[in-house]
Amino acid sequence: MPAFVSRIGVYGLGRFGSFYARLLSGLAPVCAYSRSSGRSTPADVTRVGEEELLGCPVVILCVAISALPEVLRRIAPRLAANTLVMDTCSVKAQPAAWMEELLPESVRILATHPMFGPDSSAAGIAGLPLILCPVRIGEADLEGWRRCFESLGLAVRRMSPADHDREAAVTQGLTHFVGRVLAEMGLQPSPIASVGYRKLLEIIEQTCNDSWQLFLDLQRHNPYTREMRQNLERSLSKVRSRLDADPMATTSPAVESPAPAEPEPGGSGGSVP
Ligand SMILES: NC(=O)c1ccc[n+]([C@@H]2O[C@H](COP(=O)([O-])OP(=O)(O)OC[C@H]3O[C@@H](n4cnc5c(N)ncnc54)[C@H](OP(=O)(O)O)[C@@H]3O)[C@@H](O)[C@H]2O)c1
Repeated sequence: MPAFVSRIGVYGLGRFGSFYARLLSGLAPVCAYSRSSGRSTPADVTRVGEEELLGCPVVILCVAISALPEVLRRIAPRLAANTLVMDTCSVKAQPAAWMEELLPESVRILATHPMFGPDSSAAGIAGLPLILCPVRIGEADLEGWRRCFESLGLAVRRMSPADHDREAAVTQGLTHFVGRVLAEMGLQPSPIASVGYRKLLEIIEQTCNDSWQLFLDLQRHNPYTREMRQNLERSLSKVRSRLDADPMATTSPAVESPAPAEPEPGGSGGSVP
């Protein structure tokens, strides 16, 4: 932690805010604010009111992506000069632009995306990626934060918000989309589950504990996810067309196959080996 950081304030105690506040408390004293009194306070974290939180030298926003503009408008006039504001949104271009537009010139801004959460870090955070997209911060300051996150064992990468969103539309947007689709299919564990099938169930576990709002925001606020979904649908229909067009094809031309059985009316013909 850079030596000048006496206290970190985490704004929002949803699924990620609670997890992150706890994680950061290993580096510096952490206080946290939630607009909902029902949210529990993580161990080693001090619960404070909004005014006190905004007095911290570093304010880390862990609110829903779609709520960020509203929260920025709310906090902007109350931040002291030189406060460092970081977001943690899972998309980067829009939040970076919102922060630059809505926060006063006197405030420093670092857009971040910790690419892990309470589910994906079950086995620890070592080697997991954290993306930094500097918006309004000096190089020395940025380097201090890079080292600080690296000291937690994270793999820190600097990227432009647009490059992040382009890549995350596939690595994260696709994973979450497929997770929701697989959950919709009602897949269940099976005593004869193959390793591959178990990995499909793992995708459901890794994605569907997050709030539906986060899923919506990931898909709607990343400018590249629409293209990813179109690509997925095109690929699904291509594979289905190939299957429908050639139901009797052997999978491997190298293997000599027996004469095909007469297909059953309306069926795909043959039995599953
Ligand atoms: N989940 C993850 O694994 C993960 C990983 C990396 C980054 N993130 C990012 O972390 C952020 C939070 O995600 P999450 O998973 O914690 O979602 P979540 O569980 O749905 O929590 C959303 C949080 O935003 C707060 N919030 C929503 N609207 C607000 C408003 N108008 N004013 C003030 N607070 C508001 C909620 O407050 P209430 O408690 O009052 O409802 C809650 O604390 C998102 O930007 C997400 O992209 C999440």
